[in-house]
Formats: sequence, C-alpha cells, structure tokens
Amino acid sequence: MQIKGNVYLVTGGGSGLGQATARRLAAHGARLVIADTDAPAARTLAEELGEHGRCAVADVTQAESMQQAIATAMSAFGALHGLINCAGVVVGRKVVDREGEPHPLDLFARAVEVNLIGTFNAIRLAARVMAQGPPNADGERGVIVNSASVAAYDGQIGQAAYAASKAGVVGMTLPIARELAAYGIRVVTIAPGVFATPMMAGLPEKVRAVLGQQTPFPSRLGRPSEFAALAQHIIENAMLNGETIRLDGALRMPAK
Ligand SMILES: NC(=O)c1ccc[n+]([C@@H]2O[C@H](COP(=O)([O-])OP(=O)(O)OC[C@H]3O[C@@H](n4cnc5c(N)ncnc54)[C@H](O)[C@@H]3O)[C@@H](O)[C@H]2O)c1
Repeated sequence: MQIKGNVYLVTGGGSGLGQATARRLAAHGARLVIADTDAPAARTLAEELGEHGRCAVADVTQAESMQQAIATAMSAFGALHGLINCAGVVVGRKVVDREGEPHPLDLFARAVEVNLIGTFNAIRLAARVMAQGPPNADGERGVIVNSASVAAYDGQIGQAAYAASKAGVVGMTLPIARELAAYGIRVVTIAPGVFATPMMAGLPEKVRAVLGQQTPFPSRLGRPSEFAALAQHIIENAMLNGETIRLDGALRMPAK
C-alpha cells in the first residue's frame, strides 16, 4: 500500500511507538488521524503535521469513540487506507502477591480491555470502512498493523494480564487476515521487545539499563524510529500478511 497521499489512523498516536510511526508516515507524505485518549498529546502532534494531520480524542475501548475517529478521517480526507494500532497499557502484578493478596480482577480485565478488545474494536470499525473503498492497482484496500509484545511468547512473572492481552492480539492476527483477504486488506502484528518510550520511562533507570543489556544485539532499548521503520515496510510490502514479527534484537525475556 502506498504511503504518499494515503490516509492512516494511528491509535495511541500521541506517544511513543504510535507517535514515531505517525511522524514517519507523515514525512513520507501520508495524511494522518492521531487517535488518543491523551487529548493534548494528540492535538500537539496533529498540529505539528499541519494540513496533513487531524486529531481525534478517542478511546479504543469505546465503539462510539472509535467510530468518531474514523469519521474524522472520512470527513477530513475522504478515505481510510490504513490503521496502526499502538494504543496500549502496561499492567504488572503477581497472581498472588507477597502479602498473599490475589491479582485484582479489574486490573486483568483492564489490560485485556485496552490491549485486546480495544485493538479489535479499532480493527472491526476501520475494516468496515476500508472494505468499502476502491482497490488500488494491486487489489489492496487497506492495511492494519497491530502492536503485540514479546510478552505474548515469553511473559515474565507479573505479566499474566499483559501477556494474555498481547497473546490475544497475536492469536487474532491470522484469522482476521484470512477473513479480510477477501477485501484486499492485510493484517500484520509487530511484537516489540523493549523500546525507549514514555511507557518504559516509568521504570527506574537501572531497570531500563538491565533490560537493554538482556537484549543480545543490539544491547540497548529499541528506538521508536525502528518500530516506525518496520511499520512503514509492512504497509509497503504487499506480501506481508497474517504474520506477527518479533522486533526485539533476539531478546527472550527471562522469568523475572
Ligand atoms: N515500549 C515498549 O517497550 C513496548 C514493548 C512491547 C509492546 N509495546 C506496545 O506498543 C504499544 C505502544 O506502546 P508505547 O511504548 O508507545 O506506549 P506509550 O505509553 O508511550 O503510548 C501509548 C499511547 O496509548 C494511549 N492510550 C492508552 N490507552 C488508550 C485508549 N484506551 N484509547 C486510546 N489511546 C490510549 C496513551 O495515551 C499513549 O499515548 C502498546 O500497545 C504497548 O503495549 C511497547
């Protein structure tokens, strides 16, 4: 799918991996809708993109909210060619903590609600609109890029909720790609290792340094621009479909 002139909606576009992807696509001539619950962040980036950017203060877990974000793309730019799902939350809690307290159920539900159900919500609503658009010369009508995590495969102690939510994203990638193939819409998921974003900034410097060192090569945190570069390649390479790609410098996370 071409980037220049086409319209992409980025959830979680106000920060980190989504923000870097939006900037990269904009630099290649795309028109963008930045969808985020963080209104100031989404607005700031949309304004930075000028006439090629629009802001949608939207919660991926809410049907109406995401419908409006997609409506923003249609009213501002008249089409939707791609969805980049980067909205997400990180949850860390043991199943039974040191005090013997069980994992709060609402915390588990929150991770699944945002990371898995929110991703699916955006996919189903965007796919409906993309499926109605005209195909390009290769028969493509759209492309969807999701964010999972290496925790989907090697989740650590304390990551039951996060790992389950991300494994759900990995699991639904192929069946959705198979179904949407009929419309010429591709679905690819990226499973990042550890990237230097505001999500990770919450961790102490020492912990971040250790996480970087655990990555065989390069032994550092990933750069958001490296995620954005892969998202761009996925959009442009029509043969990539129905797959989850680890982007992790060969990191295999230990139990803790
Ligand atoms: N940074 C990493 O190391 C890393 C590793 C693996 C996977 N990921 C995944 O990549 C994605 C992006 O992560 P990031 O590091 O850029 O995080 P981030 O916290 O920097 O950005 C996430 C953005 O999502 C937004 N958001 C949260 N809940 C939302 C909701 N319900 N609706 C709309 N927007 C919402 C936040 O406001 C924020 O702007 C997440 O799904 C994350 O789980 C990140």
